[in-house]
Amino acid sequence: MDKKFLPEYFYNRITYFGAALAALVLLIEGILFGMDLFSGNANVYLSLFIYIILPPFLAAGVLLVAVGALRRRRRIRLNLPEHREDRLVIDLSIPRHRNTAFVIFVVSVILLVLTAVGAYKAFHYTESVNFCGLLCHKVMKPEYTTYSGSSHARVKCVECHIGGGAGWYVRSKVSGLRQVIKTVQGTYPRPVPVPIHDLRPAKETCEECHWPGKLFGDVEQERVYFSGEDTTPSRWTVRMLMHVSGRGQENNGIHAHMYVNNKVSYVADDEKRQKISWVKAVDKKGVETIYTVKDSPYNKSLPPQDKVRPMDCMDCHSRPAHKFESPVRLINRAMLDGRINAGIPLIKAKAVDALAKKYVSEKAAVDAIRAGLLKYYAEKQAVYYAGHQQELRAAIEQVVLIYRHDFFPEMKARWDEYPDNIGHWISPGCFRCHDGEHRSSDGRVISRNCDTCHTIIAHGAPDNMQKNIDGLPFQHPFVDDDSWKTTNCSDCHSGT
Ligand code: HEC
Ligand code: HEC
Ligand code: HEC
Ligand code: HEC
Ligand code: HEC
Ligand code: HEC
Repeated sequence: MDKKFLPEYFYNRITYFGAALAALVLLIEGILFGMDLFSGNANVYLSLFIYIILPPFLAAGVLLVAVGALRRRRRIRLNLPEHREDRLVIDLSIPRHRNTAFVIFVVSVILLVLTAVGAYKAFHYTESVNFCGLLCHKVMKPEYTTYSGSSHARVKCVECHIGGGAGWYVRSKVSGLRQVIKTVQGTYPRPVPVPIHDLRPAKETCEECHWPGKLFGDVEQERVYFSGEDTTPSRWTVRMLMHVSGRGQENNGIHAHMYVNNKVSYVADDEKRQKISWVKAVDKKGVETIYTVKDSPYNKSLPPQDKVRPMDCMDCHSRPAHKFESPVRLINRAMLDGRINAGIPLIKAKAVDALAKKYVSEKAAVDAIRAGLLKYYAEKQAVYYAGHQQELRAAIEQVVLIYRHDFFPEMKARWDEYPDNIGHWISPGCFRCHDGEHRSSDGRVISRNCDTCHTIIAHGAPDNMQKNIDGLPFQHPFVDDDSWKTTNCSDCHSGT
């Protein structure tokens, strides 16, 4: 009798191959895991290998060991009829059986522990910001870049996009797999469509951290604008109190109208939800009011139920983590904090134009912005150019930096593709409903009154500020024109 440690049928080529594969993968896993452990900051691709790509090979190795052994066992039995019996005999007094049991036990324990640790790490890894934001580098770059500079930069992608619970986890991974396939094939849409229909209701995501009923009082906001057409720009400041939550007995603040006093739902005519033609408010007593516009398709009949969306946080805060700012805002801000010298003649208009143009790639954009602005100043502002080259170049580099952070031509992601629905200046936002055109059958209108949502407490040029804590009437900056009273701001203002 030969002195084999394990039963005869373990000695076959398939099993050898499986064992070698498993051992090799284990060795690589060990080395990579060590690297991951000691390298400090996690590397996306390393984690991808350790937790997603390699484990199936380990499993395949173990499977091959078993398959080889079973196949061999069958063959041995077929050749030796005296062993042919259906009963499985395990007799621990036979050394080989004992060895087999021991090996299977040890291997199982090791695999179980590895699987548990691996599954846990894999779960965390697929939930990490690195996985969501960096792995699909090109596709997610716009969202990741803007996210990294937002108030929610420490909130994981999955906390808004998926939320807790196994059901949503599985659902997201299934749809994620479809997206991976599209990414590999390069057939994903650009810009990436907003996921509002697949997003979990805000109750289970945003409201895990925010409690809308709790934010009582006003929030002060200050905005500073520079005129674009003058050679030396004028400056205009607006300070407002935003009535975020209830004021006084009526409790009619912005959040209150959504959550405390009314439940609002609506139908949008377009995919981006910028045109709203039907709105329903149900108050605390259960009284329904329906508001429609003149040309609404639902003036005579109710809209189909699957088109009606209950309004939640994301219908106003549509860009809590991925805000693509408009050229006008970006340049105003850069001029305000001195990154761009406001003394450069016509720099606002020129910089805004350079940002707003459509380019084919980031590199093309950067080259065109640099060349275009330099050319303009060298040719059209030759006297200024001669004495201020260094200042000009510094300003142009700032414009390039701004471009890189908020514009993503490869993915066609920019402010006019992904409007922010807070406000009403450069996209309809609140005025999608509060435009004074949405009426109920008994003649009520969703308010467009300028004091409904905020009070202007100060405005004016730096040396001539008007202040009144009880409120000032809006004064349109730079151009003396009353058309804002009847025309919506975003009909003239598009961010450029
Ligand atoms: C604070 C919550 C929040 C966080 C954190 C968050 N997102 Fe989003 N994200 C949203 C909302 C809300 C939308 C949809 C806006 C809409 O429907 O108008 C969105 C949309 C998107 C879109 C669709 C394209 C777009 O810009 O509308 C992508 C892609 C995306 N997010 C990826 C990510 C990635 C990657 C991360 C992590 C790096 C992340 N998100 C983190 C809330 C969040
Ligand atoms: C994991 C917790 C968490 C989740 C989930 C979360 N937030 Fe926040 N949010 C925060 C924190 C913390 C801050 C304050 C950040 C700061 O002050 O810098 C904040 C700030 C804000 C602000 C004010 C600052 C700003 O950028 O305007 C808004 C608005 C906001 N969140 C909306 C949302 C919305 C809408 C969602 C759901 C799509 C959401 N949040 C989900 C934690 C969260
Ligand atoms: C009707 C539109 C609307 C809805 C719906 C809405 N908000 Fe707001 N929210 C606002 C406005 C307007 C502000 C004022 C700040 C601003 O203009 O950016 C604000 C401010 C906030 C702030 C910042 C408050 C501060 O102290 O700075 C947070 C946080 C916030 N909202 C969270 C939420 C959450 C969470 C939800 C959903 C439960 C929600 N909001 C629903 C319009 C809305
Ligand atoms: C989908 C339509 C819709 C959008 C978008 C919308 N609202 Fe409203 N809002 C309503 C309706 C409907 C009412 C009136 C409820 C009623 O009394 O019947 C209302 C009422 C209000 C009120 C209370 C008005 C009062 O006279 O007491 C405030 C404040 C308000 N909205 C703020 C906002 C702000 C700020 C935004 C944008 C960030 C916004 N709303 C966006 C539908 C909308
Ligand atoms: C339904 C609510 C609502 C009504 C009505 C409303 N506003 Fe606003 N307004 C907002 C919100 C919300 C913001 C944006 C705050 C932000 O950007 O965070 C805003 C911003 C502004 C700003 C700053 C512009 C910017 O985005 O930099 C001005 C100026 C302004 N409003 C003037 C007016 C005037 C004038 C009227 C009357 C014709 C008016 N608003 C009516 C809600 C409203
Ligand atoms: C009929 C067109 C028209 C309407 C409607 C209009 N504006 Fe303007 N707005 C202008 C023009 C023109 C300028 C001057 C641009 C310049 O000098 O840079 C301007 C400038 C501004 C600026 C400073 C711009 C900057 O580049 O920083 C603000 C802020 C502004 N408007 C707010 C509003 C608000 C808020 C509303 C709605 C209540 C509104 N406007 C409605 C035409 C309009």
